[in-house]
Amino acid sequence: MKKLISLLLTAMLLCTALPVFAEEAHAHVLVVYFSHAGENYNVGVIEEGNTAKMGKIIAEQMNADIFELVPVVPYSNVYDEVLDQATEEQRTNARPEYEGEIENWDQYDTVFIGFPIWWGEIPNIVYTFMDSYDFTGKTVIPFNTHEGSGQAHSQRDISDYLPAATVLKGLAIRGSKAQNDAEETAKNVSNWLNGLNLNK
Ligand SMILES: Cc1cc2nc3c(=O)[nH]c(=O)nc-3n(C[C@H](O)[C@H](O)[C@H](O)COP(=O)(O)O)c2cc1C
Repeated sequence: MKKLISLLLTAMLLCTALPVFAEEAHAHVLVVYFSHAGENYNVGVIEEGNTAKMGKIIAEQMNADIFELVPVVPYSNVYDEVLDQATEEQRTNARPEYEGEIENWDQYDTVFIGFPIWWGEIPNIVYTFMDSYDFTGKTVIPFNTHEGSGQAHSQRDISDYLPAATVLKGLAIRGSKAQNDAEETAKNVSNWLNGLNLNK
């Protein structure tokens, strides 16, 4: 009888405790991304950037918080002008400011960092973000969109820039696919996340 009562009590405890665990299991993941809407290569004029679409899929699958790096000084909506702006930022090693800040940075142990490839590089505003916070002990996972360069050398660049973090293998998706094929993008993201063996 004692055994039965203790079994029942354990079962009751598990039933009440499990949903709490389930909620808390995701409280430690953050998706941060930069993405540019407006005119872009291969997709015309878009309302939401390609990387934004990919980032939202990752956040949904990870049940993560999400933070967009919105530039204080907006980029042009004209593709050719953005090309020039990016060239100038890279030439001067600029650190463009972004709006707002991340609350409760310390609560996150896993941070996804997303961006488009710009002239083979990570856009400078992402470096502004990486300069802003302490990444000691964090797990960082890059993701990006592109139109042919894949990850370029961004995986290595992030590892080099954040030596205090553990940087896991990122995912690159074509911008036009992220923009126009949510189903395929979600499949790619899910396969990749499963391969990382994260505690989703
Ligand atoms: C300034 C600029 C430079 C780019 N340079 C590259 C590049 O070097 N390699 C590449 O594959 N795509 C390049 N692209 C294309 C973008 O990486 C691609 O369209 C991406 O999906 C845009 O993402 P977003 O909509 O989130 O900003 C460039 C786009 C811009 C605006």
